[in-house]
Amino acid sequence: MTCEESIAAAATVVRQRTGRLDLLVNVAGVLHGDQGLAPEKRIAAVSPDLLRRVFEVNAFGPLMVAKHFHPLLKHDGRAVLANVSARVGSIGDNRAGGWYVYRGSKAAQNMFTRTIAIELGRRAPSVIVVAVHPGTVDTDLSRPFQRSVPPARLFDAERAARQIVDVLAGLTTAQSGTFVALDGSTIPW
Ligand SMILES: NC(=O)c1ccc[n+]([C@@H]2O[C@H](COP(=O)([O-])OP(=O)(O)OC[C@H]3O[C@@H](n4cnc5c(N)ncnc54)[C@H](OP(=O)(O)O)[C@@H]3O)[C@@H](O)[C@H]2O)c1
Repeated sequence: MTCEESIAAAATVVRQRTGRLDLLVNVAGVLHGDQGLAPEKRIAAVSPDLLRRVFEVNAFGPLMVAKHFHPLLKHDGRAVLANVSARVGSIGDNRAGGWYVYRGSKAAQNMFTRTIAIELGRRAPSVIVVAVHPGTVDTDLSRPFQRSVPPARLFDAERAARQIVDVLAGLTTAQSGTFVALDGSTIPW
């Protein structure tokens, strides 16, 4: 996700093998990791290095994937480009604060998603472009933050993946450019 040449090479392989795509889901994302990468409670903990590392994966990556793969979605059938986002990337829904870097990266990703939707709405109106919030899913990414999550609201990855595919299958072109949750509801940007 951080190497445009690698993304372009992957798109070339898909183009040569199938010539088209009906569904593209950008899933890769980062919230915490080595060298001090962890969600910040206070602005004092934010640094350009952390911003760069997280924005590269969460925001720049999906945009570069869309840049190189979108021609494969333009065909006479229905096609969906979905960027897995996070509710904490919603500006309108931000009541708790904190997590500057992750929130900012997902908000940037959301803006790119909406902007791609507008461009493809003009040039390839049968392509549906959305941001999707997967809920809280039991993965390495969420594991350090699961304590406050009621068990009934923590989904296993397989179930979340299945629900994402179901939600995407039911989308109409009128929903392109929106931010959707797994129950099909719309999340404010
Ligand atoms: N889990 C949740 O509760 C939750 C909630 C809201 C949104 N999300 C979003 O859901 C998506 C999936 O997260 P997850 O929970 O499944 O996290 P995860 O288990 O940590 O998986 C993240 C994935 O992203 C990949 N990745 C990270 N950096 C990459 C890079 N530079 N290039 C290519 N791939 C890279 C990882 O690949 P490697 O395994 O090879 O490192 C891994 O497959 C993310 O976009 C996340 O923001 C998750």
